Amino acid sequence: MGRIAYVNGRYVPQAQAMVAIEDRGYQLGDGVYEVCEIRGGALIDEARHLARLERSLGELRMASPLAPGALTHVLREVMTRNRVQDGYVYIQVTRGVAPRDHAFPVPAVRPSLVVTAKAVDPAKGAALAAKGIKVISLPDIRWKRPDIKTIDLLPNVLARQAAKEQGAYEAWLIDADGMVTEGAASNAWIVKDKTIITHQVDRSILRGVTRTTLLDLIAAKGFRVEERRFSLEEAKAATEAFITGATTLVMPVIAIDDVVVADGRPGGLATSLRAQFHNFARATP
Ligand code: PDD
Repeated sequence: MGRIAYVNGRYVPQAQAMVAIEDRGYQLGDGVYEVCEIRGGALIDEARHLARLERSLGELRMASPLAPGALTHVLREVMTRNRVQDGYVYIQVTRGVAPRDHAFPVPAVRPSLVVTAKAVDPAKGAALAAKGIKVISLPDIRWKRPDIKTIDLLPNVLARQAAKEQGAYEAWLIDADGMVTEGAASNAWIVKDKTIITHQVDRSILRGVTRTTLLDLIAAKGFRVEERRFSLEEAKAATEAFITGATTLVMPVIAIDDVVVADGRPGGLATSLRAQFHNFARATP
């Protein structure tokens, strides 16, 4: 069965799905997106993803493509039509189609909405988590608003490619002060003694939904947590390291730039947080 995509009001075979060449997402990167996990046929932390989508749209002064209720219906329809039980739903909104001009179109045009779903075998993530991943470090060359989840991912693309070429899974991005901001497509965490540390929420990171839910879990379990910046050096000397994201969940890091983290095996805390994650995430069928 071929995949089905939702494109501006219609469900179409993905292979035939089209957007206009003057779509501002295509020409100018003028758009935002979300990736939400599907687990056992339910969306994980849908409300938080949709709230972040609204925030991203608001920051860019873009209109919502659909009322919130209508969007949740489309997400389910795409999941069902693609028979995805485990995987991800991808939502992309761009400012719409208009003759190329950097400034916003006047009058405003209808935003473009695309929704797709993809099945992914959860056993793959589990196998990766059992082994742990390597990360490399690279300068954070992104724009100054990575807190907005825009489709402009070129620095992230280049960072992930560099990681892949070096046999790593993720790249940790380093700011001008030598501090780790986040991963190219995930949030970065370390554990020092028994304290869990992750970058505070500000304009220099994306406020990950997985990060937010994990902080709920951490609070409920009474673990010590510090939301603050940490340096690459501090990370290399950590007792554990891990990343979070909708596509990775909690994923242990076993090496940073070929420096082995602790004993080079997935950390106990990260492994336990991964195992408990879905007890704290909200699943909506
Ligand atoms: N990326 N930081 C960045 C730069 C990201 O791109 C992502 C997610 C995260 C984690 O956010 P969340 O926990 O809400 O997934 C942090 C998605 C998965 C992607 O681009 O595919």
